Amino acid sequence: MTDRTRYMKKVTKVVFPVAGLGSRFLPATKASPKEMLPVVDKPLIQYAVEEAAEAGITDMIFITGRNKRAIEDHFDKAYELETELTAKNKMALLEVVQSAAPKGINCIYIRQTEALGLGHAVLCAQPVVGDEPFAIILADDLIDSKVSVMRQMIALYEEQGHSLIGVENIPRANTGSYGIVATDPVGPRLGRITRIVEKPKPEVAPSTLGVVGRYLLSGSIFNHLRNLKPGSGGELQLTDAIASMLDDVPVYAYEFEGKRYDCGDKLGYLEATVAFGLKHPEVGEGFAAYLRTLK
Ligand code: UTP
Repeated sequence: MTDRTRYMKKVTKVVFPVAGLGSRFLPATKASPKEMLPVVDKPLIQYAVEEAAEAGITDMIFITGRNKRAIEDHFDKAYELETELTAKNKMALLEVVQSAAPKGINCIYIRQTEALGLGHAVLCAQPVVGDEPFAIILADDLIDSKVSVMRQMIALYEEQGHSLIGVENIPRANTGSYGIVATDPVGPRLGRITRIVEKPKPEVAPSTLGVVGRYLLSGSIFNHLRNLKPGSGGELQLTDAIASMLDDVPVYAYEFEGKRYDCGDKLGYLEATVAFGLKHPEVGEGFAAYLRTLK
């Protein structure tokens, strides 16, 4: 810890933007948000909330859109279900239902009335976040890791005190699906971002380090988000606000430890289902046996 980081505000807030259209998953996302898709038996958003809680974050801020009810209900008390399970003495299931929301967290819901882009969704959180440093987790990027990625990032932030973005090396052919960063190396897995571009074509991408849905940003990002013009796809892009932030303060890219599954994409979602299915204490063995019969 340095003198500068000693007096830094603790990260207690996370923003979950869950107001996207999820069009790649239609019709499953017609009446329910993409973040409620289950991987084995837990919705994506629950994995994300658990990751944040495990990292010591207490205030969970959901930026919701249409079909918001499922997420609110998921983290709320389910009186009827809980009474029913208690009456039938199904205590293990009762515990599963009650632990959907980790103990000691506050859930705050903000409505993004129009899906104007990820940058706009994050800006909607400003009244609650203020000027504190805060995390952003995109729940459709599900990451399997020994230490949760948000915990890795908060530990690093507490050491060096600068905004951080989670990145991973991706195939050059796929740069058009990511924000891409150019960096100056600073340490193991860490680089200072010199440039960030949203969805560049492979031939002009400044590197193959793609931004993945984990951010730890200073509250000053809101000044940049407020002045943003629509970018790629006509949406207000968080990447563009970060690009503008680079002129004022250092922002670091962190190659996190863990395996990421892009659950916003059908193939990535199926891969996650297989990986988490094989590890599942209840069905893992049976699932592995079944997969062996397929060859
Ligand atoms: P995506 O780029 O994955 O878009 O958004 P999407 O609408 O969810 O999915 P597709 O591409 O149509 O299939 C990245 C994240 O930003 C959120 C999404 O919910 C997702 O977590 N988001 C996006 C918002 O909250 N609001 C927006 O206006 C746009």
